[in-house]
Amino acid sequence: MAILITGGCGYIGSHTCLELIKAGQDIVVLDNFYNSKPEPLHRVEELCNTKIKFYEADIRDEAALCRIFEENEIDTVIHFAGLKAVGESVEKPLLYFENNVGGTVTLCRVMNKYGVKRIVFSSSATVYGHNPVPYTEDMPVGDVTNPYGRTKYMVEEILRDLCTSDPEWSVVLLRYFNPIGSHESGRIGEDPNGIPNNLMPYVLQVAVGRRERLSVYGDDYPTPDGTGIRDYIHVVDLALGHVKAVAYARSHTGAEAINLGTGRGTSVLELVHAFEKVYGKPLPYVIAPRRAGDLPECYAATDKARDLLGWEATRNIDDMCRDAWKWQSENPMGYGE
Ligand code: NAD
Ligand code: UFG
Repeated sequence: MAILITGGCGYIGSHTCLELIKAGQDIVVLDNFYNSKPEPLHRVEELCNTKIKFYEADIRDEAALCRIFEENEIDTVIHFAGLKAVGESVEKPLLYFENNVGGTVTLCRVMNKYGVKRIVFSSSATVYGHNPVPYTEDMPVGDVTNPYGRTKYMVEEILRDLCTSDPEWSVVLLRYFNPIGSHESGRIGEDPNGIPNNLMPYVLQVAVGRRERLSVYGDDYPTPDGTGIRDYIHVVDLALGHVKAVAYARSHTGAEAINLGTGRGTSVLELVHAFEKVYGKPLPYVIAPRRAGDLPECYAATDKARDLLGWEATRNIDDMCRDAWKWQSENPMGYGE
């Protein structure tokens, strides 16, 4: 039986494809290249010396999805496909609802039609909103401030309703904290379009000279050094969490939300200084005003992932910086044109 990976050419998807193949799983990948290119999948093929079955398709295209389910023996879907830029979601909310929510509904309708009732979904710590840290999965969620975050919350609710309506469904809602880093080979990594929104990609582009300096958004938060705290997680640890989540989904029914984080918070300046150790020189930065909508701190409770999935992150901030820098220094323009 094969696992269908939607959005498998993206940052987290490509790393997960590699770990699934290494774990002996059969995979089929779908992507519409809205935010990616074919190259990462070629590099995954090269890293594991295997040909990957790929469809250039959109999750909103029901006929294309039906063809994929007819042509393959799929038993589980890992659903990464989605748009993820918070700012863009504020400007284009309908695009985000149509793609992330509408696309997921279409995907589930087709899954139902072919009797495939197992899905691992890419949710986000953003659904926790203003809860106190550490975030535990039983906290009330949905207090989100932007359309992107709302799509994640809405899809979580839709998938829970699906489980309530049909007890054969198995749904794992993985709430990612802040994925950074790359595969240790330096062959695959994060390659954002345009000016990066997120901290690590921005740091990396400053380091290779594509940007002049980092703006640290706020040094007056109620944190030890005044800068924002996040739970950064190595993307390979995150990918390994998906291998465990598929095993869990195959042996359980019902819906479970599970955090994928390290449980440790790191401030912006701590991350910058950890990066400087592998970079070998100071990283140019200035202190700038707070960014609207940012929380002072965000980190996971990790007990549920350990208890249900038997998974915990093993890579630390220094590993994340080392591998991120290997990727960016060896691929200064990412995957290129
Ligand atoms: P990404 O943009 O690199 O990957 C997403 C992939 O989905 C891209 O390859 C894109 O082309 C594809 N895609 C988008 N819409 C599609 C559609 N309609 N049909 C087919 N393919 C489509 O993003 P990522 O960082 O790998 O994130 C993967 C998932 O995890 C997303 O759902 C994202 O919202 C979620 N997530 C990411 C983070 C993060 O910080 N990276 C945090 C929390 C949750
Ligand atoms: N930051 C800077 N300068 C930058 C970029 C970020 O100082 O140029 C700071 C932010 O203020 C924050 C920290 O670095 O304190 C992390 O910011 P990111 O943008 O990397 O990550 P966020 O936690 O803000 O956002 C991430 C995902 C979102 C998701 C959110 C909540 O990118 O998709 O986590 O889970 F919604």
